[in-house]
Amino acid sequence: MTNKRYEPINKAVPHMLHGADYNPEQWMHRPENIWDEDMAMMDIAKMNVVSIGIFSWSTLEPSEGVFDFEWLDKVMDMLAANGRYAMLATPTGARPAWMSAKYPEVLRVREDGLRNGHGVRHNHCASSPVYREKARIINKKLAERYHDHPALLGWHISNEYYGDCHCDLCKENFRDWLKGKYDTLDALNQGWWTKFWSHDYSDWSQIDPPTFHGESSIDGLEVDWKRFIVDLTVDFMKNEIAAVKEFSTDKPVTTNFHGMPYPTMNYWKFAVHLDVVSWDLYPDWAKLSEDSTVGSDTAFVYDIARALKGGRPFMLMESTPSTCWVVHKQQRPNIQMLSSMQAVAHGSDTVQYFQWRKGLGCCEKFHGAVVDHSGSSETKTFREVAEVGNILSQLDSVVGTVVEAEVAVIYDWENHWAIDKTVGLQDDDKKAYLEGCRSHHRAFWKKGIPVDVIDSEAPVDQYKIVVAPMLYMLKPDAIKNLNDFVNNGGTLVTTYWTGMVDENSLCFYGGFPGPLREVCGILNEENDGLLEKDSVKIRINKNQISTLKDQYLAHTACDVIHVETADVLAEYGSEYYEGMPALTRNNYGDGAAYHIAFRGEPAFLDDFYSEIAVEAGVQSVIKCDLPEGVTAQRRTDGEKDYIFLMNFSPDEKVVELGNGGLVDLLSGKPVKETLVMKAYEVDFYVR
Ligand code: GAL
Repeated sequence: MTNKRYEPINKAVPHMLHGADYNPEQWMHRPENIWDEDMAMMDIAKMNVVSIGIFSWSTLEPSEGVFDFEWLDKVMDMLAANGRYAMLATPTGARPAWMSAKYPEVLRVREDGLRNGHGVRHNHCASSPVYREKARIINKKLAERYHDHPALLGWHISNEYYGDCHCDLCKENFRDWLKGKYDTLDALNQGWWTKFWSHDYSDWSQIDPPTFHGESSIDGLEVDWKRFIVDLTVDFMKNEIAAVKEFSTDKPVTTNFHGMPYPTMNYWKFAVHLDVVSWDLYPDWAKLSEDSTVGSDTAFVYDIARALKGGRPFMLMESTPSTCWVVHKQQRPNIQMLSSMQAVAHGSDTVQYFQWRKGLGCCEKFHGAVVDHSGSSETKTFREVAEVGNILSQLDSVVGTVVEAEVAVIYDWENHWAIDKTVGLQDDDKKAYLEGCRSHHRAFWKKGIPVDVIDSEAPVDQYKIVVAPMLYMLKPDAIKNLNDFVNNGGTLVTTYWTGMVDENSLCFYGGFPGPLREVCGILNEENDGLLEKDSVKIRINKNQISTLKDQYLAHTACDVIHVETADVLAEYGSEYYEGMPALTRNNYGDGAAYHIAFRGEPAFLDDFYSEIAVEAGVQSVIKCDLPEGVTAQRRTDGEKDYIFLMNFSPDEKVVELGNGGLVDLLSGKPVKETLVMKAYEVDFYVR
């Protein structure tokens, strides 16, 4: 990093990247010259990158050991001749039919023991030695052939890794993984509390993965199985990368993450092995007109993507340029630009789509693509994509710049798994761990305050405020980091359902929030779960926290707590716990720990975080009041700030920008003090 700017993803390409998944092998036979048309149309759309070869194994290796690279040579040469780059994929997301026929053991086995038939994608066993070897061979061949090709930008390893397999080999690997973790069966039995229902194991061979028709009552087993699957998948990925790196050491390597976020892959474990993080994101933009939280939920994911490599810019590897699977509602005007620039605002140095052309057959033939079945560039979608390309081509100065966040919200995959498995939270509330994290993040997003979304064990020293919603599972590093953070002057916010179990899902004995009891200065006596129709009043103690309203409402969950050393900022105003503490603050070392014992309405979080931000000296990236639905993000190189102002509402919004020294990034003209933003408008400023 020079100043506050990272190197571009590939040093030789100091530009914003704009592109799409490109599947030329689907168009080898018709119509004539379609690859030439592709190149010409990519020029119009100002596309400088494509992802290629993602599901091309059957074309690259049509029969075992017989390889055909002629078509790929031609496409790579065409890309280079047209000044374009390739994220070249390893094709392991789907395998050729000959492989499944000859080596059925490469296919996954379901929970009930039945082996899958050939088909779909991500249907391979990550333990299978045959699959690993076949992957190694094809990856090596690709790297050997293309490592110094002028079109090669970087490596796209497989596609959206996910899923598990229950074959005997995977079970054996799981048992080995458990031996590595627990060493003795005794330690495992204690860690999983297996005296319960006579579940203790007397031999490692008795341990099976959790299944719907078998073991499903050991919480520790569930979390460990998911951890094992992540480690196994990461190991598979590392083998893929090693094969590529035998020949290609100077090009960046990524694998595309996905989901909002995808719940069962802990991406922190993958990111350390990658040069750059990339993410495929398909938010439900069709619902944006009714619900601007689609915008903040998307921001939440980008704030993970950026944090995964300590703030390094990431790649938006796939997004839809029009429709997706969920609702076939076409994107309304401005949404394409807004959604693309939102990624850039949060730290992406690319905007890429799935996919370049709509295929003529199979299950994605009506999925949105840049080029429709008409083959024309005269479509709304194409024009909108071209306009994104036009704007990106003017944003090279933003490449490598950073988003500086003084606030972190903890979202922890393992905590998510542990909560999902816990009996005691209502179903809705369980699903609501993610929503709980998002709601705290959203309160900052609305104010234009940047946030990193981090793992519970990530370092936190660089932040002023750390919010840990429902951190039910407390792992050793998190305990140390959070205690030290407050001791050293930080502001920590914890909530109901915090500090209840250790990393094996065993409850802390001696009172919740367990190892955070001293820093929070409270003792949690019991958790009260509310029915959907219920609410509980929260009365604010205005002598302690004057800027909040007199009263708010709590829903879903209220913990019944006692203060030990903390001050009471609000108390419950109804229910059998009326008069007991609901919101507390504990001074600890040089910092403070706030504890919110209830799930509050959004207005509470908005007002609470306004107060906390001022107290901790955290500011919005823009000095003006942002109307509902409008937010701002900043990227900076330490000298210049690039401000993105985004209207996620379907209504025109008036923003009193004042005279903040902002200049329009594209025209270079000073901005008006009062700005009228159209529905879904995005504006770019520099100062
Ligand atoms: C992604 C996947 C693409 C395509 C897309 C459709 O998850 O990587 O290959 O299937 O979904 O939305």
